[in-house]
Amino acid sequence: LVIVLDFGGQYNQLVARRVRECNVYCEIYSYRIDIEKIKAMNPKGIILTGGPNSCYEADSPTYTKELFELGIPVLGLCYGAQLMMHVLGGKVTKPEVGEYGKTEVLIDKKDSKVFEGVESSTTCWMSHFDYIERVAPGFEIAAHTADCPVAAAENAEKKLYAIQFHPEVLHTVRGKEMLYNFVRGVCACSGDWKMDAFVENAVADIREKVGDGKVLLALSGGVDSSVAAGLLSRAIGKQLTCVFVDHGLLRKNEGDEVEAVFGPKGNFDLNFIRVNAQERYYSKLAGVTEPEQKRKIIGEEFIRVFEEEAKKIGAVDFLAQGTIYPDIVESGLGGESAVIKSHHNVGGLPDYVDFKEIIEPLRDLFKDEVRKVGLELGIPEDLVFRQPFPGPGLGIRIIGEVTAEKVQIVQDADAIYREEIAKAGLDRDINQYFAALTNMRSVGVMGDERTYDYAVALRAVKTIDFMTAEAADIPFEVLQKVMSRIINEVKGVNRVFYDLTSKPPGTIEFE
Ligand code: XMP
Repeated sequence: LVIVLDFGGQYNQLVARRVRECNVYCEIYSYRIDIEKIKAMNPKGIILTGGPNSCYEADSPTYTKELFELGIPVLGLCYGAQLMMHVLGGKVTKPEVGEYGKTEVLIDKKDSKVFEGVESSTTCWMSHFDYIERVAPGFEIAAHTADCPVAAAENAEKKLYAIQFHPEVLHTVRGKEMLYNFVRGVCACSGDWKMDAFVENAVADIREKVGDGKVLLALSGGVDSSVAAGLLSRAIGKQLTCVFVDHGLLRKNEGDEVEAVFGPKGNFDLNFIRVNAQERYYSKLAGVTEPEQKRKIIGEEFIRVFEEEAKKIGAVDFLAQGTIYPDIVESGLGGESAVIKSHHNVGGLPDYVDFKEIIEPLRDLFKDEVRKVGLELGIPEDLVFRQPFPGPGLGIRIIGEVTAEKVQIVQDADAIYREEIAKAGLDRDINQYFAALTNMRSVGVMGDERTYDYAVALRAVKTIDFMTAEAADIPFEVLQKVMSRIINEVKGVNRVFYDLTSKPPGTIEFE
């Protein structure tokens, strides 16, 4: 076990993730944790994260000096490095200039264990205003930059290491090796921890927290809520009830696929409730064309349906959510996240359900880690690797009024598109792709007859964070094949467009 002590830095979860990547188990605790608890856990190493404060100010987060006298290796990063120096008798001040962004760092201590195998000059990611002016007694300077005399310092004998930059950030080119050197080398962690150990630990935690209580989860069929359902099911079986609302705006056969995995004939032990609310949604959406209004109706109707089901179930002890770490960052709750609750995933929902506490078993994981957990739990690959699908579903991929007929057209066209993309082996390269139904009809000719039918738009984007995106470069033959199959197989369509727009100025979805 390695303990990450969180001082409120923006990269603290990333530190934990990098440690996990070294196949070493770690847990994050707030810096407020009592030293006796740390001693009881007997960790092999401790990492102090960055943070926004100045360690020499009176009310800044700090830690008792005893932490550095336990004989346990400690690595301080950024604020953590400064705090280590400050507490042990070094000097931290505010220089004239701070350092931000990619910076060249020169390694001075050639035999440093943390920098083993790292070139004497390498690029690191700096983000600090304060700096270490003088190291604490017993420490040696291990690295510097042009503006920072102490970019790293260490007391090798006591296994105390201070790094001013951020090895956890990918811009620090050899950061992974540095953290590996610390946890696997200095701390001598064996490195036999894998995602199955995450599952085991999470299951134990859930059992302890839930006891014999009841848990309710809104299952959307997306990756996160599905993995949360699988994990909770493994931990507490039928104490978990999943409500799956089929709003009639899912992709083709998706409702049945979700039911096949989580329903009574599936492999998971839980109570599964499927609500077929298609007609309800279609009638609410009839005649509505304004995109924001459509979104609002779909969102509100979801709350209403869920609320009705929750009432039938009665009071529950926990409401589970598939919140994952990037959701927490996006809702601006990154710092010291271990002590902050986020209700980001289901806006407003908690007000409508009678529950005592929220449980979020995936809140420390990144998306690719969630997928690994999903595979570990035996959730089928096509579900685990599903592309993102918006909450309002096909409702925002049908421009203008939503009707049952249009839903069917877009479902069929989209299924063909996905099938062909998979056949061409492109499905894991393109981050998101789908068919949408434009609200445009045009004249065509089919079998000597005049047609006046809808145009389908194909969208495919490459993106890292979904904030910006570019149209994917799909081979023309693939597009042609998709076009010809859609026109031939989907009634009501006589034209197919490929959307070349990047984001910005376009968005990924159409509404
Ligand atoms: P846009 O269209 O804003 O989409 O470029 C960016 C990403 O977000 C997804 N998206 C949503 N996801 N609820 C969601 O859960 C929504 O209301 C929603 N709207 C867009 C979209 O699919 C894309 O991945």
